[in-house]
Amino acid sequence: MPRKRTYLMSPPEHFAVEYTINPWMDPTAPVDVELAVKQWENLRETLVRHEHTVHVLPPHAGLPDMVYAANGAFSVDGVVYGARFRYPQRSAEAALHRAFYDPGSWRFHDPVEINEGEGDFAYVPGTGGGVVLAGFGFRTDPTAHAEAQEVLGRPVVSLRLTDPRLYHLDVALAVLDDTNVTYYPGAFSDGSRRVLERLFPDAVLADEADALAFGLNLISDGRHAFLNSEATALGAKLSAAGYTPVHVELGELKKGGGSVRCCIAELRP
Ligand code: ARG
Repeated sequence: MPRKRTYLMSPPEHFAVEYTINPWMDPTAPVDVELAVKQWENLRETLVRHEHTVHVLPPHAGLPDMVYAANGAFSVDGVVYGARFRYPQRSAEAALHRAFYDPGSWRFHDPVEINEGEGDFAYVPGTGGGVVLAGFGFRTDPTAHAEAQEVLGRPVVSLRLTDPRLYHLDVALAVLDDTNVTYYPGAFSDGSRRVLERLFPDAVLADEADALAFGLNLISDGRHAFLNSEATALGAKLSAAGYTPVHVELGELKKGGGSVRCCIAELRP
């Protein structure tokens, strides 16, 4: 069931917490950039060791959140739906991601609506012929869900996020394989929770502590679930469900409000 994946990551050489656009960011708390780079490098090496391909997007001075590469775009079957960031502090990242996608191999769509790429979009290839799960409530506008559906030609299921600490879909839910997910029900509205129960009756359910440890901010290749080292309780739930947790230390990047999944854009050529 595991498949080799292609990822895009951007090193945290210019990482800093200089502003507050989510509840985790405290500009008065010191950040160790050298340690952040080391932890990021370890994540990259771990993915490569598991035979995944990792492309690197050069970082930019003045864009301290660029390490969270998941937010830069969302691709399915060679079609890329570009990002348009909610906050001006990050808006320049969108064009840098756009430049990565070679027009010879990708069809890139510039978005009209505000959306933060894989931060709020997830793809489940084996459910409903390939379904897109899409979060809204904090960052991505719900109007972007319809735009993504038009661009990607895949059904988009809108899910309302309700906990400001879990402000992107990718900190509340993760795709584990072609048909299953793990999520924290408390991050979603009642109706969205009912939708998730119908679509994924066998989902691995996480609790609040798992979510706040950024455990759900994981990336899976279908078998190995790469997740941060604090999320040991979720790791145990995933192993009980037949997955192999691979823990990586990413403490510095938590200060910006992200972990493993935020640092990785999955490319689906
Ligand atoms: N500081 C970044 C922001 O608030 C963190 C982004 C986290 N990325 C993610 N995919 N959840 O935009």
